[in-house]
Formats: sequence, C-alpha cells, structure tokens
Amino acid sequence: MNSKTAISLEDTYGAHNYHPLPVVLDRGQGVFVWDLEGKKYFDFLSAYSAVNQGHCHPKIIEALKSQAEKLTLTSRAFYNSKLGVFEQFATSYFGFDMLLPMNTGAEAVETAIKLCRKWAYQVKKIPENKAVIVVCENNFHGRTITIVSASNDPDARNEFGPFTPGLLSIPYNDLPALEKVLERQGEYVAGFLVEPIQGEAGVNVPDHDYLSKAKTLCEKHNVLFIADEVQTGIGRTGKLLATCGNCNCTDFCEQTPEVKPDVLILGKAISGGVFPVSAVLASKEVMQCIKPGEHGSTFGGNPLGCAVAQAALEVIRDEKLTQNARELGKFLRTELEKLPKNIVQIIRGKGLLNAIVIDENLPFSAWDICVHLKNNGLLAKPTHGNIIRLAPPLVISKEELENRIAIIKHTFDECAQKI
Ligand SMILES: Cc1ncc(COP(=O)(O)O)c(C=O)c1O
Repeated sequence: MNSKTAISLEDTYGAHNYHPLPVVLDRGQGVFVWDLEGKKYFDFLSAYSAVNQGHCHPKIIEALKSQAEKLTLTSRAFYNSKLGVFEQFATSYFGFDMLLPMNTGAEAVETAIKLCRKWAYQVKKIPENKAVIVVCENNFHGRTITIVSASNDPDARNEFGPFTPGLLSIPYNDLPALEKVLERQGEYVAGFLVEPIQGEAGVNVPDHDYLSKAKTLCEKHNVLFIADEVQTGIGRTGKLLATCGNCNCTDFCEQTPEVKPDVLILGKAISGGVFPVSAVLASKEVMQCIKPGEHGSTFGGNPLGCAVAQAALEVIRDEKLTQNARELGKFLRTELEKLPKNIVQIIRGKGLLNAIVIDENLPFSAWDICVHLKNNGLLAKPTHGNIIRLAPPLVISKEELENRIAIIKHTFDECAQKI
C-alpha cells in the first residue's frame, strides 16, 4: 500500500466530510508520525489536541493492552471494576463531586446541555420547556443537531435544519452582552456554555478577566457556568484546565485558580488519543438531577476507556506536561513573533495552543503554507481560512521545539520570497 492508493480508497469509499492534507499517516511515536513511504513528520496538530501525551505513549498503551485482555465492555447494565475507581480518581484530580462518562466531545456537550436543562426545571424552577442556554458566536462544540443549532458557522448549519430551540447566541468575550441578556431574561436562562479559548474559531483568547467576570454574572443570576474544555483542557494551555478553578492541580500546575465551572466538559486528551473517552463533571446537586434511564451510552464508562483515561491523566501529572506547555508555549510565541511581517498578521495563544493569522491578501493561502510545511516535515492545518493552528504534543522537548521552529521559519522565508 502506498499513499496514493490509500488516498484514492478514502476518496472512493469514504464520505467526503473532511478535507485532509495530502499525507497518509501510518505510524506515530511521541511527537513524530511517519507516512506510508517512511517519511517522518513532526505533528503540530496532535489530533486537534487529543494527543497531548504524544503518540502511543507507552504507559497508556500498556493500560490499554492489559485491560483489553481482561474486560472491555459491560454496558452500564452492570457495574464494572474500573469505572468507580476512575470516577474517584478523575473527580479528585479535577476537583468535582461527580462524573458522567461518555465517549466523544460532542456527546459530552450534549450531556452537559441535557444536565443543565434538568437542573433548570428541577432546581431553578424554570417553567417547563422555557429554559434557555446562552452560547457564544463562533463557538465550536461538535457536530450533532443540537450543537450545530448553537453554531453560526454556515458550513456546520446549512441544510441541517430544523434546529433545536432554546439556544441564544451572544458575541464571545463580550461581558456587556452577557450582562444584558441575563438582566433581560435571566430567570429563563439555565446555563452559559463557553469555550475558555475558542480553538476551532482560530485560537481566540478572551480578555484575562472575561471568564471570571462571566462566572460572577452567572452566579448573580443563578445560571450554570458550563466550560467546554474538550480542546483547552488537560494541560494544553499551560494549566490543567484553562478555567483552572480549584482543580487540585496546584502541586504541579502552579497557577492561581481562576474560575470553577459548575459543569466541566472534557474529551480528547482525557484518554491521550488512544481510545474515545469524554466526561462531564459537576457538583452533586447538579449531577443528581439525572436519574437512572434518563441518559447514557452503551460504551460510556467502559472499563477499557476508564483504564486508558486514568493512565492518560497520570501521564499529564507525572510528566509535568502542564508546566512544559506553559514554558515552551511562551518560547514558541516569542520565536513566532520573528516570522516575516508581510505574511503574518498576528500570533496568539496560550501554552501550546497557538495560532498564526496569515494576511488574507497574499498570492498564497494558509492551506498552501501548510502543504509547504508538510513537505518540509511539519504537519499543521488551517482553521478558518487564514489561520494556522500550532498545537504540538505536550511531551515536546525544548530542543525538538527549536528544530521545528527552524522549519517554520525556513518555510515562511521561502513563502516570503514569493510575494
Ligand atoms: C471545544 C470543543 N468541543 C467539542 C468538540 C467535539 O469533540 P468531538 O469531535 O470529539 O465530538 C471539539 C472538537 O474539536 C471542540 O474543540
């Protein structure tokens, strides 16, 4: 099998719901991946921040193997010997009372929305079917019908209607807009669903006090603050959580806690990219609004996923990956600031979640630059046209990062010569 054949098979037999870069990956280890012809690349996307621990981390793979030989799936019709242990571990790790396990990020967001509505009717006493969840423009929370109902991205929505009601969109990083909607109709607002940094929208970092002030507004109006940390969570932004509220991580995170969400949504790196695991965490008061039979998933909470996720979280803690992301992220942004100014408009990000905003009026696009980077041995992908996201695995060393920055600089210099 060569790359040409693999691409042709996907194109012929697979739905065209993605537009991948023309590279076929066959193997991965740590920060590296190899294509079918054996060419080695540096992964600067990390499967959209799912592979924070690096590809095929030996500890996570060992957990996968040993659990796979013992028990993989029981469904929730029965208890299993891994779920409770993982739930105890993860709730203590993140500083919450209870956890609801699912598989994908979108499922966890759906779960949080359902949980929030239940809480609204049972605890806040919003009249039945009147609950509103406030979301932010340019959000990305996944691809289900309810989630795209909260989106303003035409590609996500067009011809997928009719949409789920009860979702109200306001501009991101706009406290007056949040305040206005809460002052006007706070009695009907059940939750505020927000990404601490909008990853898919192009790594939009809000003002430093946005999240804490938004949380205060939510508290004033008895509204649940729901943080979607599917992309920002688990060390990516240089903190265990980008909201980092009382998450019991101060021993290795060294950050002052900022905001504690009422509902926390995690996915992607919770299992190090090894197995689909996602989770919603909340207080007892909120989580106990869901009763047996009201929500679930055949695979959610399976022993294989629990063993993998526990190992993946241990790796983040034991290898001090949050610190590494914080320190190397600063270094990366400083170096990226030296890229040619006639190509690059803005460098932004936190930790190792960063973006380069490319001038839109150039004879080449962000996509062209990514193809060029690929040819030079580094994989990154544009998000939203002219923005290139840079998110290497958090296990990257300073030396490896320096080497890759050299590739990025070299590639941009080559591009600059075409102007
Ligand atoms: C913030 C955020 N929420 C939810 C999702 C959806 O996760 P999944 O693709 O696992 O459904 C993503 C995926 O990129 C995301 O970035």
